Amino acid sequence: MKPELLLLPFGLAIAGCADKSVDIPNAEIEAVQLVFDSAEQTPAVMEKWSRSCVLCHVNGEGGAPKMGDVAAWGPRMAQGNAWLMSHTLEGFNRMPPLGYCMDCEEEDYAAMIKMMAGADE
Ligand code: HEC
Repeated sequence: MKPELLLLPFGLAIAGCADKSVDIPNAEIEAVQLVFDSAEQTPAVMEKWSRSCVLCHVNGEGGAPKMGDVAAWGPRMAQGNAWLMSHTLEGFNRMPPLGYCMDCEEEDYAAMIKMMAGADE
């Protein structure tokens, strides 16, 4: 067994209940970044968005960061796109897994997140 595998449980214990208690492998961080870089806001994406994310991210339902609220999205963006994606796919507190969009692909989520966070140029 590799020594770093033995150290892993201690690292997790120190990280405690912090958001980043589980590491995302670098390869996945890079892969998600590529998806974010190429994701575009298209009519198809908007259609999916308007029947899912809208339900909570327009009014701030359950504490959801609101559409275009740069102050609310800033600290979330700072944790990195891979984290935003994993919280979207797996859910996060009152954020439901997949955000109620059952036919969304990762590219769709990336485009929606960029748009809601005001990160679309
Ligand atoms: C049922 C309500 C609801 C729906 C529908 C919903 N969200 Fe959320 N979302 C939330 C809430 C509440 C939070 C805040 C969770 C927290 O920080 O505790 C959140 C947070 C997020 C975050 C930030 C996660 C983080 O790491 O800070 C992202 C990204 C996100 N939502 C994306 C989406 C996308 C994309 C959709 C549509 C596909 C969507 N959400 C649909 C309620 C919702």
